[in-house]
Amino acid sequence: MERLHKFLSRMGVSSRRQAEQWILAGRVSVNGQVVTEMGVKVDPERSVVKVDGRRVQAAPLITVMLHKPYGYVSTTKDPQERRVVTELVGEKYGRLYPVGRLDYDATGLLLLTNDGELAQRLTHPRYQTPRTYRVTVAGEVARETLNRLAAGVELEGRKVAAEVFLRKKEPDKSVLELTVWEGRYHLVKRLMEQVGHPVLKLKRIAFGPLRLGRLPRGSHRVLTGQELRDLKEAVGLK
Ligand code: URA
Repeated sequence: MERLHKFLSRMGVSSRRQAEQWILAGRVSVNGQVVTEMGVKVDPERSVVKVDGRRVQAAPLITVMLHKPYGYVSTTKDPQERRVVTELVGEKYGRLYPVGRLDYDATGLLLLTNDGELAQRLTHPRYQTPRTYRVTVAGEVARETLNRLAAGVELEGRKVAAEVFLRKKEPDKSVLELTVWEGRYHLVKRLMEQVGHPVLKLKRIAFGPLRLGRLPRGSHRVLTGQELRDLKEAVGLK
């Protein structure tokens, strides 16, 4: 038996939080009965679960890695009608959702999946999934600044530590490789702003155990079995 909101998220129809809202709103039925309380359990094999009258059935789980280009929003729909990352993957895998976000003007590794539970864990702060960026910043970054970032910089009253390597230094800009363990909004841009080096370019080159490698910009590929196993293991899933 499995809790209803967890089942819905695992089936890839929604996040757990959204499933809870649907349940509260009376949009979900189990074996013909509308369920509005939390904590109801279903038999994933046998229960007939419907959302808005439509049966929820297991879609094959799929996770792809996309090399996000500039000028795309990391959502499935944009109210401002800008281009969205799901356009780059198309319809062939059914509906996929981005795992976390990369800014409109950021590039690099972005996962898309219909595996709600995996997505939830990868983005949950508890699992501290590392994200590594190649970051071009304004100005010449001093060694003390790297130490300051490593020791942790305060953002909204909470310290955020980053592991940083200086890859290139020029008088007017520096290239860093920077790892953080959470995915807060504009995190890298705000961190670098705080230490006086605004971000000029941001590319994510690794997420958890995965590396972007040579995947061309705008292209995507399905994760290999090994990559998927590594990813799941990193967040305590079998
Ligand atoms: N940090 C940012 O500032 N932007 C991103 O897209 C990712 C991390």
